Amino acid sequence: MLNLIPKPLHAIEKGGNTPFSRKTALTGDFNHLFDTLFPMMPNTDNAVENKLVFKTDSSMPSEAYHIICTDDNNILISSSDASGAFYAVMTLLQLADGNGVIPSVEIEDAPRFRHRGFMLDCARHFWSVDKIKQILDVMARIKMNIFHWHLTEDQGWRIEIKKYPLLTEKGAIRKSTALSLTGYEEHKEPRDYTEYGRGLYYTQEEVREVVAYAAKRNINIIPEIDMPGHFVAAIACYPELSCTEEKVDVSDRWGVLDNIACCGKENIYRFVKDIIDELCELFPYPYFHIGGDEVPKDHWKVCPNCQKKIRELGLKDENALQSYFNNVISAYLKEKGKHTVGWNEILEGENLDNSIIPQWWILLDDSIREKKWIEDGNQIILSLVDYVYMDHAFAIRPLKKTYSFGPEVFGVEDESNILGVEAPQWTEYIRDTQKLDMNTFARLVAMSEVGWTAAENKNYDDFERRLENLRGYFSSIHAPIAPQFIYRGDTVGEKSEEKRVEKGWEMWRADPYFEFKLMKKEEEI
Ligand code: ACM
Ligand code: ZN
Repeated sequence: MLNLIPKPLHAIEKGGNTPFSRKTALTGDFNHLFDTLFPMMPNTDNAVENKLVFKTDSSMPSEAYHIICTDDNNILISSSDASGAFYAVMTLLQLADGNGVIPSVEIEDAPRFRHRGFMLDCARHFWSVDKIKQILDVMARIKMNIFHWHLTEDQGWRIEIKKYPLLTEKGAIRKSTALSLTGYEEHKEPRDYTEYGRGLYYTQEEVREVVAYAAKRNINIIPEIDMPGHFVAAIACYPELSCTEEKVDVSDRWGVLDNIACCGKENIYRFVKDIIDELCELFPYPYFHIGGDEVPKDHWKVCPNCQKKIRELGLKDENALQSYFNNVISAYLKEKGKHTVGWNEILEGENLDNSIIPQWWILLDDSIREKKWIEDGNQIILSLVDYVYMDHAFAIRPLKKTYSFGPEVFGVEDESNILGVEAPQWTEYIRDTQKLDMNTFARLVAMSEVGWTAAENKNYDDFERRLENLRGYFSSIHAPIAPQFIYRGDTVGEKSEEKRVEKGWEMWRADPYFEFKLMKKEEEI
């Protein structure tokens, strides 16, 4: 039985083995891939020489591939593009699992969705270039193709902007970090009072390096500058960007903050366009994320500048002002050849430009706006919090729940306007790489199948069997899979789903590390 993840469309075992190692000569089309592929191939003693031939078949869809192990011990791969050729080899690597042979197979495969994404919040906590590269390595192996880089937040600005150096000199640094949600309302959370973030940002040189590394692995990067909410780090540097112009610190409170950028004044438009100018030089993929989530309008309601702008433009309300802002920024991005993406609250305002792509993470008002958006022929990305958010405990959201994600959970039947699926990893309560690994990799692997595998080929029990069979493989590519008792959510001693979720939230709010501590304890035994 083949243990491939994501499960391919059609695969048959022909019986016997075919050599696949660094002794296998890579030949044929797509030869620009060979330098990337060769070092990934198994380097084993007494491997047998043979050939892997890449052939272009322009009748095939993008990213699709066809592998045939031929009777003369060679491997033939057909695809219409380099992505398909690359993914064929990713499949062979899983089949080989470090050995110099694979079972002889014939595999026909193609993805369900075009956008198979992972988002990493590098603002709440910073993740090194090496850590990001390692995640990109894993994503490539499981055929995920979009890395959404969440770079800015209330609590830290993490990308160098040459025109505004203060953003990283000052905007990267907060005074303390809240460790759990206990006592949040009274601002009495347990806290680490060590300053966080000095020097923790990506230089433009590092961004170029990561973009190039990702490109070699068939991964495109979408940068996100979250605005006009989640913008306090920028406001701490440039108070004139807010409605009140009050001097504030980079936030050390999590959650939704009401101090947002003022969209009634002209300076924000210039500021954002300057940032876009620099970022468009760094990120070649034609998509740009402008955030737009969680934007309380309290300040705008009483700001003379915002109110004047609303009157002058004849806008209906403050939500329409956000749409106006989004449309101006999106038009600017369009001039630079970019599509705009934003979290689905951007649909709350009237007259949003319909070329903007909402990322649907939260259910609002019976989802009337999102469903109409798709029905009208516009595109959307699916990321519903209750299924795919990776930061919460597995007791709240076991792997099985994440695996069951897809357009069907929204009651959406026609998939033609679903650009794809994406899982975000928020890091308010993830402070170290071991916890990041535990919360991320099992779910990332499940998401690879959500994004790639045809709906009729999905089966959770079979997925879990394959996952356990490939546990060693994932460890070997530095993607440790959480233990089964963790990812099944068996950590709070509750059998009924309702009680498990309720207790899971209670325990996670009190200590986001509770499952991690259980895992560590188990490892000691
Ligand atoms: C979000 O989780 N605020 C997009
Ligand atoms: Zn204002």
